[in-house]
Amino acid sequence: MKHVIQVQNLTKVYGKLKAVDHINFEVERGEIFGFLGPNGAGKTTTLRMLTGVIQSDEGIINILGFNIRKEPLKAKQNIGVVPETSNAYVDLSAWQNMMLMSELYGIPKKDAEDRSEYLLNRLNLYHRRDDKVKGFSKGMKQRLILCMALVNDPILVFLDEPTSGLDVTSRQLIREILQEFPDQGKTIFLTTHNMDEANRLCDRVAIINQGEIAAIDRPEKLKNTAKKLKSIEVSFDKTVNNQNLLEISYVNELRKKGDKFIVYTDNVNSLIYSLTDFAKARGLEIVTLKTRDPSLEEVFIELTGTDR
Ligand SMILES: Nc1ncnc2c1ncn2[C@@H]1O[C@H](COP(=O)(O)OP(=O)(O)OP(=O)(O)O)[C@@H](O)[C@H]1O
Ligand SMILES: [Mg+2]
Repeated sequence: MKHVIQVQNLTKVYGKLKAVDHINFEVERGEIFGFLGPNGAGKTTTLRMLTGVIQSDEGIINILGFNIRKEPLKAKQNIGVVPETSNAYVDLSAWQNMMLMSELYGIPKKDAEDRSEYLLNRLNLYHRRDDKVKGFSKGMKQRLILCMALVNDPILVFLDEPTSGLDVTSRQLIREILQEFPDQGKTIFLTTHNMDEANRLCDRVAIINQGEIAAIDRPEKLKNTAKKLKSIEVSFDKTVNNQNLLEISYVNELRKKGDKFIVYTDNVNSLIYSLTDFAKARGLEIVTLKTRDPSLEEVFIELTGTDR
């Protein structure tokens, strides 16, 4: 089986809102597939449909070859899910949560214990295994729900914003374990609103906005688009004519924002040099100089050519 996820015409409507609007995509075995989009784009709604938590209004979903609506148990048997909000019981310890999850999957006790010990160690929680989850920090909880999602050794894992709001160390621990999956022939579907994370982790990225997929591509394409949209925010102590600024080297486009200019470029470093030369030659003082990365919205507009 080449495609572990197949989605056709998938749609979810809430009242008048099309949260997910006739989307199509496929995920191959061994891929890390990212679903990238701003808040409210439809990422969680899609993930919930894929994992059988909610039903679609239209469309077909096949997970590991099984239609999620017709054979939900078979479809769900070999998947792991890290949901948007924690599914750990806060009055139980980390270890008890792992055992409970193992029971749900019918994992023999010895296997459950070995696997839990391994996973909790990997995510640096083993020393806290007997503490109640109530007292866990956000990063610890997130790492625990990843351990819980992996206890059945799934071949397909769904993660909803797995590293959102976590510190560098927690993020790194989570990314490391996920990055080992493709080599074992396992597949990952994750949602994120972080462009950098999508670029770093994913083999392919679908960009979703307002329930629609704008593009599905390798992250290089995204990176190139984002690079073109890099900009520098600059202001001077005296009034500067737009035209004069537009004529200096490495300026692609210019926008005025109050007393500042947003100067778009594909070569940030050279533009900084030409801006300082420009200021020097005219006896201007540079008051602000900040580099800006494009927002997801800017990349989305560039990719789709729409401005809505
Ligand atoms: N149960 C629901 N009832 C009504 N509207 C809903 C429901 N669930 C989601 N929506 C709406 O569907 C849209 C998509 O929501 P969704 O949670 O899928 O977004 P998201 O991409 O996961 O966003 P975020 O990055 O904030 O998590 C939003 O406009 C949301 O308000
Ligand atoms: Mg969400």
